[in-house]
Amino acid sequence: MLIGVPKEIKDNEFRVGLTPASVAELTHHGHSVLAEKSAGLGSGLSDGEYVAAGATLVDAPQEIFARAEMIVKVKEPLVAERKRLRRGQILYTYLHLAPDLAQTKDLLASGATCIAYETVTSPHGGLPLLTPMSEVAGRLAPQVGAHALEKAQGGRGVLLGGVPGVPAAEVVILGGGVAGTHAATIALGMGANVTVVDKSNEALQRLAAQLGAGVRTVYATRAAIAELVARADLVIGAVLAPGAAAPKLVTRAMLSTMKPGAVIVDIAIDQGGCCETSKPTTHSNPTYVVDGVVHYCVANMPGAVARTSTFALNNATLPFALALADKGWKQALKDDVHLRAGLNAHDGKLTCKPVAEAHGLVYTPAESVLG
Ligand SMILES: NC(=O)c1ccc[n+]([C@@H]2O[C@H](COP(=O)([O-])OP(=O)(O)OC[C@H]3O[C@@H](n4cnc5c(N)ncnc54)[C@H](O)[C@@H]3O)[C@@H](O)[C@H]2O)c1
Repeated sequence: MLIGVPKEIKDNEFRVGLTPASVAELTHHGHSVLAEKSAGLGSGLSDGEYVAAGATLVDAPQEIFARAEMIVKVKEPLVAERKRLRRGQILYTYLHLAPDLAQTKDLLASGATCIAYETVTSPHGGLPLLTPMSEVAGRLAPQVGAHALEKAQGGRGVLLGGVPGVPAAEVVILGGGVAGTHAATIALGMGANVTVVDKSNEALQRLAAQLGAGVRTVYATRAAIAELVARADLVIGAVLAPGAAAPKLVTRAMLSTMKPGAVIVDIAIDQGGCCETSKPTTHSNPTYVVDGVVHYCVANMPGAVARTSTFALNNATLPFALALADKGWKQALKDDVHLRAGLNAHDGKLTCKPVAEAHGLVYTPAESVLG
């Protein structure tokens, strides 16, 4: 199969769909790869590394979209990219179609076979191609939170780990799933006092077993959250109600009970945020202050550590990319019900039920397009 890797064009997006190591795996399987010049530079991957891995470099994305049988990307295609997609071509990338009617319509109009990372499932539960980015965002959250707590950043001037004789900061993590667990691991490592709140007893039990006595676990009630948020130096929002908007666990009224200069890092902002006062920010202007509380609400946190994120993403996406290339999309999806769950659109048909429901469009089960 001829596989294309265009350079990402979304603002401040430095990740890339395939690393040179992934290219080498694909070429080892007998496939060919076209990589756009400088596609990997933002992740510290040179054109020379791609050539050494067996890729052919091309100057313009137009050539990649015109020739490749499968396009491997990171972010959803922007309008210019959507216009280049065509019937019979596979698009393998994050799509997030439910909140994006314009993209949904364009992908249907293109006729392309669109496989969304975020809806591929796993036999062990969860969403394996979303997990690595939640791991990255979770591990990044205490780091950006610690920075925001510095006086010069508008924070209350508290060191996360304290020092001998001075108590460590209080970190409260809302949601003990993938992002929350990784946030707790790093916050504990930085020496903070860490409390994780979740409405799932299973999640709390798993956290306690995994992180030991160092982490406090609290069942999520309104009263418990109100009390913990008022005492927190750093609140990390990491809840997820799959497919739905994040529940607003921190209300506007709670902000007035918080310490001046306390910080909220709302990882769940990509699902609308779990604080009433959260609104999306960017890496170039990541924070703002409401009622004296610093809010960090960057919706693409992994972009800050593009190199780590690119490798983490490739670890998860490569096995499926190989299956699609080796078997062709139809056989690969027939053989693997979890990869099949990733099919969002094919030949003008919408094959992801939640997306169809979100937009009031006709749903066609993936099975019926597989023949
Ligand atoms: N901002 C970013 O750059 C970025 C990057 C990656 C992931 N995310 C987001 O981070 C969020 C968390 O992702 P995840 O993979 O850790 O999800 P997850 O499903 O692994 O964990 C979510 C946890 O939230 C808990 N939860 C749900 N509703 C709750 C409630 N009302 N009260 C208390 N707990 C509740 C669940 O029980 C679960 O344990 C998602 O919104 C995800 O999209 C954001």
